[in-house]
Amino acid sequence: MHKVWKLLLSSCLAVTLTAGAQDDQAPGQAQANKGNGARAELAKQPPTLQNIYGRQHVLLDGRWSYIIDPYETGYYNYRRQPFDQSPSGAGGFYDDRKPKDKDDAVEYNFDSSPTLAVPGDWNSQNAKLEFYEGTLWMRQKFVAAPKDGKRYFLYFGAVNYEAHVYLNGKKIGSHKGGFTPFQFEVTGRLLKGENNVIVKADNTRHQDDIPTVNTDWWNYGGITRDVILAETPDTYIEDYQIQLAKGDMGRIEGHVQLAGVQRAQDVTISIAELGLKTVVRTDANGRAAVSIALPKSKVRYWSPEDPKLYNVTIAGATDTLNDRIGLRTIETRGHDILLNGKSIFLRGISLHDENPLIPGRLRGEGDMRMMLQWAKDMNCNYVRLAHYPHSEEMIKLADEMGILVWAEVPVYWTISWEKPEVYANAQQQLTDLVVRDKNRASVIIWSIGNETPVSPVRTQFMGKLADTVRSLDHTRLVGAALEVHRSGDVVTVEDPLAEKIDLASFNQYAGWYWSNNKEMLKFSFKVNYNKPVIVTEFGADALGGYHADSDTKWSEEYQDQLYKNTFKLLDAIPGLRGMTPWVLADFRSPRRPHPYYQDYWNRKGLISETGKKKQAFYTLKSYYDQKQQQYK
Ligand code: GCU
Repeated sequence: MHKVWKLLLSSCLAVTLTAGAQDDQAPGQAQANKGNGARAELAKQPPTLQNIYGRQHVLLDGRWSYIIDPYETGYYNYRRQPFDQSPSGAGGFYDDRKPKDKDDAVEYNFDSSPTLAVPGDWNSQNAKLEFYEGTLWMRQKFVAAPKDGKRYFLYFGAVNYEAHVYLNGKKIGSHKGGFTPFQFEVTGRLLKGENNVIVKADNTRHQDDIPTVNTDWWNYGGITRDVILAETPDTYIEDYQIQLAKGDMGRIEGHVQLAGVQRAQDVTISIAELGLKTVVRTDANGRAAVSIALPKSKVRYWSPEDPKLYNVTIAGATDTLNDRIGLRTIETRGHDILLNGKSIFLRGISLHDENPLIPGRLRGEGDMRMMLQWAKDMNCNYVRLAHYPHSEEMIKLADEMGILVWAEVPVYWTISWEKPEVYANAQQQLTDLVVRDKNRASVIIWSIGNETPVSPVRTQFMGKLADTVRSLDHTRLVGAALEVHRSGDVVTVEDPLAEKIDLASFNQYAGWYWSNNKEMLKFSFKVNYNKPVIVTEFGADALGGYHADSDTKWSEEYQDQLYKNTFKLLDAIPGLRGMTPWVLADFRSPRRPHPYYQDYWNRKGLISETGKKKQAFYTLKSYYDQKQQQYK
């Protein structure tokens, strides 16, 4: 599929790559840095390359040297002016300066600094950093041999939260948002021989960020996903979408986008296994629409029962990419959700991008497979990846393992609805998520947010996000985790935002945040939408191993009984077509300080932090076994 270049591991990384003369973007970028400040920089983010792992690339992962810099001494001078916007552009830690002689007192040194693993959050790698929120500088050195006629991109899977990136002492750009990929073109900036890349990562929370200051998850900082140096031909396939047309199992619909000098080309899309080969001609802007009739009788449509992925080849005169793509349709009809035209029940579970056994962001395929396998052990066919984009690897694994996905952006609780730059940030994160995962069959729902308080400015903000996601991809469903309102014994789902989304999807915590096991069965739900009802969250905290009667909160018995009660309440909702109880496994949260029951863990997991399955795990499994029969 792709050729990984030979790698020599030493204190610095050696790669055999060469760079072409092209150097069109960087100066403009540098100019923007000097002139217009961070927001101008953000607006100039190029679209990320589709299928980055399918290209010639090398991973710059490994041990990175780091410097903890709570006062951002390496970024600002004592007048709080950024060094990288000074006339020389120099002066910060990104210079990686060494003392010239015994008279030169340089107050930092990456060479003798400790190292940490990338990808990886810093909080779980050093006890001093467990609660740390602020700036950390990280440096990696690598050897390159750039080639003419090629282009080079430095690609980050994710850095939480604000990243400023320097290559060989020069600023190449910055990015805000902790869960989506970004890249910078470095053609003409790579040195023949040793290079160094330095990242200033800052996970300080701010009211105007996305997410905002208040969340119920650990604010893991750092370079949490792969760092990739990719090489492309001068003219390359920048982007493509190959999916079944909305509600049409007989036609592939999509597009191909080339970038570079030779944008008008013939491009062949082929699926050898289906005997399909189609040639499209890209226009002067490098774009071509794709529409391919399918031999329905020959197609194995992707589903949890048969997660068939086809090898798709996209080949132009200058560039070729391969991808593994599943073909399936997803749509709603009244209360029903139709996968490949057949009504399904979404037997789901919510989960965070965190490994409970070694608390920290999921570190690799092993961790991810463990989480998804736990879900499958409960007979799930669906997961809600909360509350932010999880890694591309996780989504590809869901494709392979046959697990349907609800993907979400961290528009979570109360953000600054009225600020245009906050909307721009939310829209950018949503766009980057859709751009990255639009070829993944497993992803069926784009979620634009969680538990956002009803107000006109909020509904307008969220409504625009819903329009954005539909303009980017109309083949999938749009959702949001809405809230419920109680009056007397009636729990009502009523939210103007529900008009803009395809589901009546909401969180409810009967028996935990309100009522209890004894009383909760007196309640009933009123959902006045002719849409599929998806209960995106419910649950109760239970300390693994703590046993008592089913009226004693924090006990496994309480959690288990609450699940049984909740099934009765939800099964009474005519349009119920799925759920993602909160949550697969206990997860870290700074909002949970109870010393005995919590110890900074949210304990609503069905699996404890030691990997032990709680009673309710089995109760949910048997409920899903029945649902599976019902929707056979
Ligand atoms: C909320 C929220 C979750 C949170 C959960 C809880 O509804 O969406 O992020 O962890 O409830 O309180 O446990």
